[in-house]
Amino acid sequence: MAIQGKYVRISLLLSLALISCVANGADHLAPRRLLTNLCTFDVTHHGVKAGAGKCKQNAVALTKVWVQACQSVAPAKVLIPPGTFEISPVLLEGPCKNPIIFEIQEELSMDKAHVSGHPVDSIKFCKVTNTVISGFTSLNPPAFHMHVVGSTNFTAHSLTITAPDDSPNTDGMHISTSCNVKVLNSKIGTGDDCVSVGQGNTDVTISGIQCGPGHGISLGSLGKYKDEKNVNKVLVTDCKFIGTDNGARIKTWLNSPNLKATDITFQNLVMDMVKNPIVIDQEYGSKSPVPSNVLLSDIHFRNITGTSISDAAVSVVCSKKFPCCVDMANIDLVYKGTDKLPKKFECANAKLTFAGKQNPAPCPCRR
Ligand SMILES: *[C@@H]1O[C@H](CO)[C@@H](O)[C@H](O)[C@H]1NC(C)=O
Ligand SMILES: *[C@@H]1O[C@H](CO)[C@@H](O)[C@H](O)[C@H]1NC(C)=O
Repeated sequence: MAIQGKYVRISLLLSLALISCVANGADHLAPRRLLTNLCTFDVTHHGVKAGAGKCKQNAVALTKVWVQACQSVAPAKVLIPPGTFEISPVLLEGPCKNPIIFEIQEELSMDKAHVSGHPVDSIKFCKVTNTVISGFTSLNPPAFHMHVVGSTNFTAHSLTITAPDDSPNTDGMHISTSCNVKVLNSKIGTGDDCVSVGQGNTDVTISGIQCGPGHGISLGSLGKYKDEKNVNKVLVTDCKFIGTDNGARIKTWLNSPNLKATDITFQNLVMDMVKNPIVIDQEYGSKSPVPSNVLLSDIHFRNITGTSISDAAVSVVCSKKFPCCVDMANIDLVYKGTDKLPKKFECANAKLTFAGKQNPAPCPCRR
């Protein structure tokens, strides 16, 4: 009797979930997720088409599916099934009623026509919560840029974002004014930063990224605009940089508003023929004589190893007004460049503390 009662209750729950999924326009319940009531929206059942020449149409259709999934009374999955789907830039906006999983099984590709001129967000997630995106593969578009803004509890994993290294000034992924964001186990190569963590973020983890070509993984640039907010708690860990211009980088503008960036850790990074593996540049952007007003504190570079091809493997140039506090532990960057220049450790306006191996050897800081 008891067992029977349980079955009845489960099937009742399931049929209620099924009804609500169907009412939502979702196709079915993902079989293995029955008990979590996940409604699946296969985009190809909603007007999104594989093949060339459907960019605009696909963007419109995808936006519509997103809106439906976002209003779903149960957690939803937006599924892009195997195939190559071209799109024009899309804005996927929240807040949504329930968590959303956005899964690309093969390839979503950027419309080339939209990439000439100044960079645009190819795909922008705005004000979404509890969202997971995976399997994003984008091969050979001139540029691809994912932007996560104003969002909470956002995870991106297993992405492949590749573009030629001469593509315009376009980051692989940019995160701003968001909280609890994770970018995990992905391969990103672009013409600019592989991942950039902008202003107003709290609690961002970037882990397991293979970056290259590109400009590395950056915090910033910070302080270009008046209304920017502080950044707190960023962890970049277990990443590999291959032939990039920079590795781990923090950049803030001269003559910036007053801002703080605290608790920033770059650790367990491997550099493979990287130009500037460790960079703090607080003289970024304008040519203003006014120093940067971004205070960098609780900054850590730990266990960063591999090879560099420039004479300044470590360059820490902080603000005259707000010297930065940086701890460096177990840095071992072997010079493999062809120039005969002596290897340098460049430093200005910083309070540095050291532990473990330091290669290149530190030298006194300019003030
Ligand atoms: C974050 O989002 C995931 C995926 O939707 C969800 O499973 C998890 O419960 C959320 N975490 C919090 C703290 O809400
Ligand atoms: C240092 O980083 C490398 C590369 O990510 C990792 O394999 C190794 O375990 C790390 N060492 C320590 C002591 O954490």
